Amino acid sequence: MKIKVKVNQVDKVFDVQAHEYLLDVLRKNDYVSVRRACDNTSCGVCTILLDDKPVPSCSLLAIKADGHHVTTVEGIQAEAEKIGHYFGQEGADQCGYCNPSMALTVYALKLENPKATDQEIKEYLVGNLCRCTGYVAQHEAIRKYLGDQS
Ligand code: FES
Ligand code: FES
Repeated sequence: MKIKVKVNQVDKVFDVQAHEYLLDVLRKNDYVSVRRACDNTSCGVCTILLDDKPVPSCSLLAIKADGHHVTTVEGIQAEAEKIGHYFGQEGADQCGYCNPSMALTVYALKLENPKATDQEIKEYLVGNLCRCTGYVAQHEAIRKYLGDQS
């Protein structure tokens, strides 16, 4: 069946199977910044934005995206660079594998709640697991990004 999705502001038509997940459809169509690790909603590396909200694409049937806006990290290049700058400054960037999903989630947080408290930041990022060194430096980088009005 065909679904119509706006990906990074570009209208797309994808031919999908009823059982296919959005992650597989995106990767098949060359959006390879969207990654897979756990396949069961527990790591967050497959995160995309669906109508500006973070969603694990490994568990979202592609047909559910029909008629919606999907954003991958390619669609937020300028903001992703800013986020990367703060992560680098705080020494929070480690593996690189999680970077696209982390950038999308942090960007969505800024859209939704630019004045997020420390607790709200932690709660918003709860779905993005880090296998590397922990969350303190990431948290500090996110606070600086939220405070960046440029
Ligand atoms: S691959 Fe989707 S949550 Fe881990
Ligand atoms: S920095 Fe990528 S999983 Fe920790």
